[in-house]
Amino acid sequence: MVNQLVRELRQIVGEGGVITDPDMLVRHSTDWTGRFTGQAKAVVRPSSTSEVAEIVMLCRQHSAAIVPQGGNTGMVGGSVPVDEIVLSTARMSGIEPVDCDAQQVTVGAGATLAMVRAHANASRLAYTVDIGSRDTATIGGTIATNAGGLNLLRYGGTREQVVGLEAVLGTGGVVSHLGGLVKDNTGYHLPALLCGSEGTLGVITRARLRLMPFHAHRVAALVGFASTADAVESVTAWRAALDVIDAVELMLEPGMRLVCETFGLRRPFAEPAAAYVLVEVAAHADPTELLASAVSATPTVGDIAVAVDGGQRAALWRYREDHPLAINQLGVPHKLDVTLPASRLVEFLETVGPLVQSIEPAARTWLFGHVGDGNIHVNVTGLPPEDEGVDDIVLNLVSEMSGSISAEHGVGVAKKRWLHLSRSVAEIDAMRAIKHALDPDNILNPRVLF
Ligand code: FAD
Ligand code: MLT
Ligand code: ZN
Repeated sequence: MVNQLVRELRQIVGEGGVITDPDMLVRHSTDWTGRFTGQAKAVVRPSSTSEVAEIVMLCRQHSAAIVPQGGNTGMVGGSVPVDEIVLSTARMSGIEPVDCDAQQVTVGAGATLAMVRAHANASRLAYTVDIGSRDTATIGGTIATNAGGLNLLRYGGTREQVVGLEAVLGTGGVVSHLGGLVKDNTGYHLPALLCGSEGTLGVITRARLRLMPFHAHRVAALVGFASTADAVESVTAWRAALDVIDAVELMLEPGMRLVCETFGLRRPFAEPAAAYVLVEVAAHADPTELLASAVSATPTVGDIAVAVDGGQRAALWRYREDHPLAINQLGVPHKLDVTLPASRLVEFLETVGPLVQSIEPAARTWLFGHVGDGNIHVNVTGLPPEDEGVDDIVLNLVSEMSGSISAEHGVGVAKKRWLHLSRSVAEIDAMRAIKHALDPDNILNPRVLF
């Protein structure tokens, strides 16, 4: 049966378009953290929307489930097969010329975020979604997860950038809306619905993306604080004072020490700080003075390092972007990606570590993230990957504080048992009804979300 399916897949995509070699399947069958692992039956690599449609129809006939996969950098196990067919978008990475009049671009789902960002910059425009996995994560994957990342605070997340989409639904039907009209109130907005659908409703094949003006001037500053509360309060003040903040990220001393020790980086300041904020501003004119006056008006700031050129900025960003890499070196982490209301953020940051420690003395809690959005990455190490007791307690705490159990990584397979903490029964019923309508045979990512 599997052999027959593989033969028919090869008829659609050609000999080289289907991988069955077990060694080559490995990298498609394990996630970035090493927590989720399976054994794909095969990896099929279509190069066009019509091939994707044929594959979906064929898999419906064979009742064979499909896991759509882009860069496989997802954090919730949604791109990892147990024994399904993986549909890789790697061959659908074409990027069309930038439409400078509309300030938009149409790209293939398999194009990486870094490729699209560089392509937009070449036309003095910017694609404003940016995440640490930019060199591997794909446009299709970032849309399917509605990726948040570093610049959401200023420009919105992925959903806000998607003007139109082309996708193959679980029915095998193709929906294509790539005309680029910004105002178009003609019924349900399918691109918005597919955004964040985590491969459960359709395979995204192409996208029409909104671009923003390119800012030629960019300055970053790393600021030390004596407490987490001082750091969070300062961020609130800077957000009110400045309309040029592209990113504002929080780190704490244990994470800073871990990153410096793991990668041999110089400590940023002579004395450690309890908390660090990395703030980056960007504008058409030099925003250094604006940033300097906002920072100097903040009484609690400690040491400051300012970076004006690209090399200096990259050095400061390493402290932040190396957090997930350094934590991975300690073993398979429990990744809890949560949002808190602004009014509960400091309380959560001060409570969660001691709470974890009180139930699991061997566990270490690492806190960092997109503080301007209230999005904290709670990473816990020193626990067996399958022991979800700590996850349960932290996510319940988040829910009691009116937060979300998933800020930006999605639900995948990792968070589905806690979906009810963030969504009502009526919402989950509506989601199931949509799933059934667009994927009646439940062949697209059947283990994800519900
Ligand atoms: P994959 O991992 O391949 O897939 C993710 C999900 O999307 C799966 O459910 C999959 O089935 C589905 N999918 C993939 N492609 C398609 C498609 N074409 N059609 C339909 N469904 C599809 N995420 C953030 O939001 N913010 C961050 O700041 C951030 N930082 C990260 C930093 C690092 C170092 C790493 C490793 C990850 C980070 N992530 C972050 C998580 C991850 O990169 C994002 O979730 C990203 O959007 C996944 O893209 P991908 O192409 O790798 O998708
Ligand atoms: C990040 O922002 O670095 C990732 O989303 C977080 C993580 O690895 O937990
Ligand atoms: Zn993040």
